[in-house]
Amino acid sequence: MDISTSYMGLQLKSPIIVGSSGLTENIDHSRAYEKAGAGAIVLKSLFEEQILHDVDEQRLNNMYGSFSDQEYYAMYYSKKHNLTQYVKLIKANKAALDIPVIASINCVSAEGWTDYAKMIEEAGADALEINLFLLPAEIDQTGAQKEQVYFDIIDHISSAITIPFALKISYYFSGLANFVHKLSKTKASAVVLFNRFYSPDVDIEREKIIPGDIYSCKELNVMTIRWIGILYEKIRMDMAASRGIYDGETVIKNLLVGAQAVQLVSAIYKNGPGIIKEMLDILKDWMKRHEYNSIADFRGHASQHNIKQPVLYERTQFMKYFSDAGY
Ligand SMILES: Cc1cc2nc3c(=O)[nH]c(=O)nc-3n(C[C@H](O)[C@H](O)[C@H](O)COP(=O)(O)O)c2cc1C
Repeated sequence: MDISTSYMGLQLKSPIIVGSSGLTENIDHSRAYEKAGAGAIVLKSLFEEQILHDVDEQRLNNMYGSFSDQEYYAMYYSKKHNLTQYVKLIKANKAALDIPVIASINCVSAEGWTDYAKMIEEAGADALEINLFLLPAEIDQTGAQKEQVYFDIIDHISSAITIPFALKISYYFSGLANFVHKLSKTKASAVVLFNRFYSPDVDIEREKIIPGDIYSCKELNVMTIRWIGILYEKIRMDMAASRGIYDGETVIKNLLVGAQAVQLVSAIYKNGPGIIKEMLDILKDWMKRHEYNSIADFRGHASQHNIKQPVLYERTQFMKYFSDAGY
């Protein structure tokens, strides 16, 4: 039975990708994901903001605002050190694994996006994932202005590298289908739907803002299912499903609506790498029962494009359901 898939032009031996996070910072762990059947890994993002913050701390320590040669060197070194560490991580993963290694960046400056992307290509990564989120929180900025920034960054990156790249996005777009359609006309090879971010929560006793849960819950996946299902066949671009994938049945659902691959993070944090094999066993068993020999035989079967009642994807109000709460 063939559970291989193609994603961003890469041939993956299985549709399960270990998503960008601290999970992929350790080579032994990455070996365990490969052994459990992962088709690829995405390295933790290289955050330009974090690097600039480290540099700023050194600048703040400089009381007179003038830098000695040594201080300039320390700042330069700190930045270089972070970048060198990331290059080492890419090289070590490439040497240790047979599956594709996808690097990830999150930058804040135009030069950052291009310089980091180039460095990652030179380090030998098979592909790049762009972890880009612009919170639409400014009341005087339109959605169109915000979206333009995404396209400008994609232009910068596509002029800098030749390896395939994917954009990992949030759902904070007023015209999500239109945005992804426009994205599919750029040089990006894939879109990851959706990222999950740090969210603030409230401590009611101390009346303070505290970090929300960092791990997803499985209920989040229905939103991914809806959007991949709607976009399948409407865009010429690979789609990877992300958020709330905790079991083999959910992997099958995301493939059925049209995903090329799925990304796991919270499920591995909570259950360890063995969950990958468990999910793949469920996928294989299901394929056997349904007499499918390859993922291509069923991918997209439950998409909006392929079902008899496409309107089911666009229904949003409960109307008939739950009008009587029943208690
Ligand atoms: C601890 C942790 C660290 C993460 N770090 C990153 C990161 O560096 N870059 C990134 O793009 N996403 C990061 N993410 C988001 C995940 O890649 C993923 O998109 C999100 O957790 C949703 O998938 P899940 O439901 O399988 O957890 C992180 C998530 C967690 C829980």
